This record gives sequence, structure tokens and C-alpha cells, in this order.
Amino acid sequence: MGDMATMQQNDTAARLSLRRGAGALMARASRKLAAMANAVEWESPAEAVHWGQRMPPRRLRDHLCGTVFLLDDFYVQSAVVEATRLSAQLGHLPGTAVLDVGSGLGRLVTGMLIEFGDDVDYLGIEPNREFYEWCVSHLESEHPSYRFRHIDIASELYNPQGAVDGAEVVLPVPDASIDVVYCWGVFTNAIPAHVARYISEFARVIRPGGKVFFTAYVEDDCPEVTFNPEDYVPFDLIVPLHVVRYSTEWLDDQLRTHGFQVLDHRYHGGMFPMQSEYTVSRTASS
Ligand SMILES: C[S@@+](CC[C@H](N)C(=O)[O-])C[C@H]1O[C@@H](n2cnc3c(N)ncnc32)[C@H](O)[C@@H]1O
Repeated sequence: MGDMATMQQNDTAARLSLRRGAGALMARASRKLAAMANAVEWESPAEAVHWGQRMPPRRLRDHLCGTVFLLDDFYVQSAVVEATRLSAQLGHLPGTAVLDVGSGLGRLVTGMLIEFGDDVDYLGIEPNREFYEWCVSHLESEHPSYRFRHIDIASELYNPQGAVDGAEVVLPVPDASIDVVYCWGVFTNAIPAHVARYISEFARVIRPGGKVFFTAYVEDDCPEVTFNPEDYVPFDLIVPLHVVRYSTEWLDDQLRTHGFQVLDHRYHGGMFPMQSEYTVSRTASS
């Protein structure tokens, strides 16, 4: 018994030390990249193309919660990584219906165009009108199989004047019509009522066997929700909802309530420090 307790203590200490080590490395890398990003020219032409892909103006990219997105190479490479995730992890095949919730500046589409071309079934939902308009005029207009919809959801960070309450939002797709829901970097900055509503909506729209991917700040042994937690991420928290952290228990409870089981949980495995990645699907009986 004593040996078991010692082993458990050592295991916990090792995991904590690994986590701190990984966090420090990520922090150093992102500080370096952020410094490089700060050195790039701020203004970029509206019609810029990089590696054959339309590039959103840096002025808009700066709002994606990562200064590194100002670097053209990083932006396109990260897009390809996300598109590859669709096929490698989320079962994307020709004909797969993808719903991108919080599609931002269409970063996933940039990667999908490189990986899959135009033969796709894609819908992006976005509350920020400027982001949405850029996507329509620079992505959808040239590649109409990539469709975008604006929903005026209020978000203190991205759409403060929005008229739609995120706690009551209805995704504009029929029940059981979507194979992959993709939701990168949305729960990370969303209040609990919005996260809870989305999990319920995902349960409605996902087809049997479909997969839902999202990123979030989630930790054991912390309050259900903490806004801009102190001493948590290695960057300054300067805007409301910059970081919204949930307890594992709260998130698990939301998922369970709507019949989801976790297929893959990459703790702190996200692109940015402390972000975790989840892939979930609905159980056969739910
Ligand atoms: C960090 S950005 C990520 C954008 C995109 N998913 C990507 O990977 O590049 C977060 C996006 O979520 C959108 N957003 C914020 N609150 C939302 C909500 N309640 N519903 C849908 N989208 C939301 C923001 O407008 C923003 O475009």
C-alpha cells in the first residue's frame, strides 16, 4: 500500500514536472514567434497571396488571439495542420459535411483548399461581420463550395454589439446532417451559457457516427469557470474573455448530459500554451 502511494506521488510529480517543462518550452517558442511577428510589416495588401493562398490582412489576423498568425508562413502551415486533422483524425472523406463554428478568417478553408481542393461540403458560421465579409469576398466568391453564414451572436471579445444571445443560438443546419463539427478557439473565449448551448446544438446536428472537435482551457481541481485566470498562461491577459478556463468536471458533465463520449483528449496538446483538444462523438444509445 505504502509502495503504491509512493509510486502514485512520484507519477504525479513526474507529470507535473513534464507539464511545467512543456509549458516553458511552448512559452519560449511562442514568445520568439511573437517577437518575429511584431517585426513584420503591419499593413498587408487586401489582395495578398502567399503560397498560392489568399491571405487575410494582418490587421484582421491580429484579432485571432495569436500574434503568430501575423506570420504568413505560420498562418498557412497551421491551416494545413488543421485540414490534415480533418482527414487523419476526424474521418473526412469526399462528401463529408463539415460545420466550422467560429470560422474566423477561414483559416481551416485555407488548409482545406490545399489538401482537398474544391470538392467539399463546408459551412462556416461566424459572428464577426468583418471576418465573415472577408471570407465571402475572398474565399467563397472564388470557391463557392465553401459557404459562410453570418450569425450576429454577441461576444464581448469578437462582436460586442451582437443582437443574438449565444445561449439561444440555433445552428442553421437540420438535425443529424453534419459529419464533422470543427470548433477551434471558440470555447477558449466563451462564457459557460454559450459553451453549454453549443454542446447541446452539436448533439442535435451531428449524424450518428459523426465527430465533434473543439479546443478549450480545461483543468482538474479548479472552479467551474475562471475568467482570465492569474498565473496560468505565459502571456498578458489584456482583454475581456482573453482566456476562459473550465473545470474538467463541468465540461465532462455538459458532454455527458448530451450523450457525448470523449474519443480523444489531448491535455495541453493544442497549438497554444495550456489549450487542450477534444474529439467527441455521441454514444449509440443517446
Ligand atoms: C480564435 S478565433 C478562431 C478562428 C478560427 N476558428 C481559426 O481556427 O482560425 C475565434 C473565432 O470564434 C468566433 N466566435 C466568438 N464567439 C463565438 C460564438 N459564440 N459562436 C461562434 N463563433 C464565435 C470569433 O468571432 C472568432 O472568429
